[in-house]
Amino acid sequence: MIEDREDDAELVLCELRGGGYAPSSCRVETEAALNAALDASPWDVVLCDYSMPSFSGTAALEVLKRRGIDVPFIIVSGTVTEDLAVAAMKAGAHDYVLKDRLRRLNAVLARELREAALRAEQARLREKLLLADRMASLGALVAGVAHEINNPLTVIVANLDVVSRNVEALLRDAAATSESLRQRGAETLDELRDAREAASRVAGIVAGLKTLTRADEVERSAVDVQRVIEFASKVAWNEIRHRARLVKVFGPVAPVLGNEGRLGQVVLNLLVNAAQAIAEGHAAQNEICVTTSMRGDGRVVVSVRDTGPGIADDVLPRIFDPFFTSKPIGLGIGLGLAICDGIVRAHLGEIEVESVVGRGTEFRVVLPAAAEVAPTVAPAASLAPQPRGRGRVLVVDDEPSIGTVLQRFLRDDNDVSVVTSARKALDLIAQGQRFDVILCD
Ligand SMILES: Nc1ncnc2c1ncn2[C@@H]1O[C@H](COP(=O)(O)OP(=O)(O)OP(=O)(O)O)[C@@H](O)[C@H]1O
Ligand SMILES: [Mg+2]
Repeated sequence: MIEDREDDAELVLCELRGGGYAPSSCRVETEAALNAALDASPWDVVLCDYSMPSFSGTAALEVLKRRGIDVPFIIVSGTVTEDLAVAAMKAGAHDYVLKDRLRRLNAVLARELREAALRAEQARLREKLLLADRMASLGALVAGVAHEINNPLTVIVANLDVVSRNVEALLRDAAATSESLRQRGAETLDELRDAREAASRVAGIVAGLKTLTRADEVERSAVDVQRVIEFASKVAWNEIRHRARLVKVFGPVAPVLGNEGRLGQVVLNLLVNAAQAIAEGHAAQNEICVTTSMRGDGRVVVSVRDTGPGIADDVLPRIFDPFFTSKPIGLGIGLGLAICDGIVRAHLGEIEVESVVGRGTEFRVVLPAAAEVAPTVAPAASLAPQPRGRGRVLVVDDEPSIGTVLQRFLRDDNDVSVVTSARKALDLIAQGQRFDVILCD
């Protein structure tokens, strides 16, 4: 309340109490005091006298505007003329009430509080929309980058394989002749293996980014989730062993229809998250427990539960957001759970999370059993008899380096033709060339 007269302020409060409010209030009459009151707590409404010896309604409005505070601002004045009232409303006041007509105050207040709540809700929605928009364009950007990285990466990986094979062959020939060559060659093979492994890791990240941005079609089959867990816990073991005991409790479950690699990615990230939530060094006191079970509705549940610090209530709604991370730069990029969510949704399942601060966190992946989902892949046709002799392979890819590397890869056992467009492929066939296999981008 911005008011220089104590008794007027008391009258206003009296009116509010009569209208059913139980207001907590603070009376100020200078700019400094107003600033102090605004610092001290958030207010639902500002009631302001129009002219006071050391302050004014318009000056008070200025202060609120400067501070970005949008609450109902109602002029309550004995002296205000219609002209002054209009000027005050133009400056941002929401309404005015004359002191000798205080009866109106409660109705005005109720309306203004309602409208302020609406304004706040609209601002929140606007913010959400903007964020969704930014996420969508970020997603498109990431998808583009992932796609661009993929081709050169395929070339790197495949060429490393070819070089390794060539070096191995050279070594076999050289073994008899030169000891130093044999030595050098063995080292080269090690180095190649390291490079291959690193490139595969990059390929994994790119695949992850792609699942994040669109649920692209992957091959699905009946997957044994316990096998998936065994695999993921092997990979995560290095992260886990200094932090917690790993306990596995496998209840009997039906197979789920899905992609083993993708589901492995889900369990792996949940395990790594659980491990990273627990500080290193007290492995005996902490536990990460993975269980499998069936729900009453026939769905399969994989639970990953940890005895870590839990997730605070204000953080919990954001953990599935892409790029949300509470980890220091370099440790997390905040994609793990967003990727998990995308993969599980593509499997027609859902992820549930339950967390108690100080006690721990449980993530449950709930997936439909295989029988409930129609398979997307036809059963493999019976194998044709093993062809004899060299194969004839046609490679169609607009990326010449991919064509080249496929050729290197296959040429020992096959005659390989490479073309860079479908048109050229059709031309070859029209000329009478025949192929056993066509590999086509
Ligand atoms: N088991 C857990 N216990 C406590 N907090 C967790 C747990 N799992 C996830 N979180 C919280 O959720 C956040 C997001 O997890 P998410 O896996 O998406 O990203 P990240 O682990 O931070 O990074 P990235 O997985 O990309 O390396 C984490 O930073 C952490 O704050
Ligand atoms: Mg993670």
